[in-house]
Amino acid sequence: MAMHPHAGRAPFDFYDLHPGSENFLDDALAGLAQPRKALAPKYFYDARGSELFEAICELPEYYPTRTELAMMQAHARDMAHRLGPETLLIEYGAGSGRKTRVLIEALAPAAYVAIDISRSALTQCAAQLAAAYPAVKIAAVCADYSRPLELPRIDGISPRRRVIYFPGSTIGNFTRADALAFLRHAHALAGEGGAMLVGVDLKKDPARLHAAYNDAQGITAAFNLNLLARINRELNGDFNLAAFEHHAFYNQGKGRIEMHLKSRIEQTVNIAGRAFTFRAGETLHTENSCKYTIEEFQQLARQAGFTPEHSWCDEQRLFSVHYLGVGVVE
Ligand code: AVI
Repeated sequence: MAMHPHAGRAPFDFYDLHPGSENFLDDALAGLAQPRKALAPKYFYDARGSELFEAICELPEYYPTRTELAMMQAHARDMAHRLGPETLLIEYGAGSGRKTRVLIEALAPAAYVAIDISRSALTQCAAQLAAAYPAVKIAAVCADYSRPLELPRIDGISPRRRVIYFPGSTIGNFTRADALAFLRHAHALAGEGGAMLVGVDLKKDPARLHAAYNDAQGITAAFNLNLLARINRELNGDFNLAAFEHHAFYNQGKGRIEMHLKSRIEQTVNIAGRAFTFRAGETLHTENSCKYTIEEFQQLARQAGFTPEHSWCDEQRLFSVHYLGVGVVE
């Protein structure tokens, strides 16, 4: 059912699909008990982590955000022309960002729906977009978009096609196998005649990639180490942050940046009363950021059932945006 949780503010419809809450404690205990210690990158984004990520997006070395925004500014009209009128624009993630605004302005969709697991991020984004675009129907769906999902009926519109927007190369933070499963769910949600616009960071000179994840100001290092501060605060941990260092490198064989936290010494750390031992030099793997060639990504999209219709990239071939179509489903 649609609700209007912010009476008095710009109206938007709110649908709560009650996504299961993430279990940080269980995931941390299980991830640290593995022979190769690992924790999912979604746990980076507490309030401080989100702030640090915003700062990363402004760094001179971190080219993806500004490159993708410039591409949207250059090509949004072409994208809108190809996607056509009367679309239901569905964004995976609470898209208060500038790229989303550029797309909404060019596409003039019948409605815009943001899907995010975080109620607070969603309602904030929906309220801002509703205020900025009173002519566009705005809806917010609280759900986990990485799982199969059915969209609630959005009242008052009869769109011609659904278009899923997934910018930021967040798809790179899935392993290739998970990215394939994710694209299959997106294909099902877009439905017959639907489409997806997805931002994907490209393979390039490893030195450029290395610099983007090892910035001179140490903001990416602080973002990575903040995960340990979050464990200490929320899960009663006792990590000594000074005993760990940020370690990010391009794994050429796997075509991905890997971020780890490397133990400087042999040490034991406690989380919620459970002890975990680190050898000197042992790492906690915190993130993968997969890079693709345009052809590799199109191939993955085909495997998920999409037809790659068009791809845009910048002159330096740093970043790409893909328009994937869903044909007639038999
Ligand atoms: C959100 N995601 C696409 C970023 C990336 O580049 O993989 C997260 C990030 N990690 C370190 N810097 C930025």
